[in-house]
Amino acid sequence: MNKKKTLVPQHVAIIMDGNGRWAKRRLLPRAVGHSEGMKNMISLAEHARKLGVKYFTVYALSTENLSRPKEEIEGLFNLFRKYFSQNVQKLINSGASVKVIGDLSSLPKDIINLIDVEIKKCKDDCDFTFIIALNYGGRSEIINAVNKAVTLGEKISEQSFEKLLYTVDVPSPDLIIRTGGEFRLSNFLLWQAAYAELYFTKVYFPDFGEKEFDEALEEYGKRERRFGRV
Ligand code: FPP
Repeated sequence: MNKKKTLVPQHVAIIMDGNGRWAKRRLLPRAVGHSEGMKNMISLAEHARKLGVKYFTVYALSTENLSRPKEEIEGLFNLFRKYFSQNVQKLINSGASVKVIGDLSSLPKDIINLIDVEIKKCKDDCDFTFIIALNYGGRSEIINAVNKAVTLGEKISEQSFEKLLYTVDVPSPDLIIRTGGEFRLSNFLLWQAAYAELYFTKVYFPDFGEKEFDEALEEYGKRERRFGRV
């Protein structure tokens, strides 16, 4: 991809859908789809960083996903246990920041500990922030922020409200990609998506590689972003 010709979004967020169907098509267990998805998520993050994307958010587990069969959820947590420390450490060592957003309180204790121990911010000149949405729901994030605002008892503005969201200090996404063929946001970054460009593709997430990511960025470059103006 010719970096000079393509407008690179500052913040890209991805709804990584289609792991299960990717596996089913190959007569493999769903867990294999998630494992391939995890590997793809890591390589896409590296690719995005090389292209100059500053913030990269992935929807790894929604609050609704938690009601999936126990084995599937445990499988996803195991993937997190297996890949998280290793890759987070690599990212932090290379000067990136890692952030987990969502309702972490109802996750298994060892996962919470892992996140607490591993999450570190890079120093001042951070070139990349990798954000993992885990047990995340946009509506509950907003309700949570409203409750904090009520406790503060102050009149709030859009700017002060944003400081109460999980994504405090993270600019809103410029581009939200959804793989897997559905055309909806599924409770992802509802507040933050207000002016995001949306890109939907039928490609299942494990097959959404660098080439497909570059195509999404190319399409983004053609969009005219008016933010409500004329
Ligand atoms: C949606 O595919 C994907 C998920 C619910 C999980 C996404 C997780 C990963 C890519 C791995 C990273 C995991 C962690 C915990 C960081 P789906 O299962 O809904 O696919 P389907 O719609 O084809 O059934």
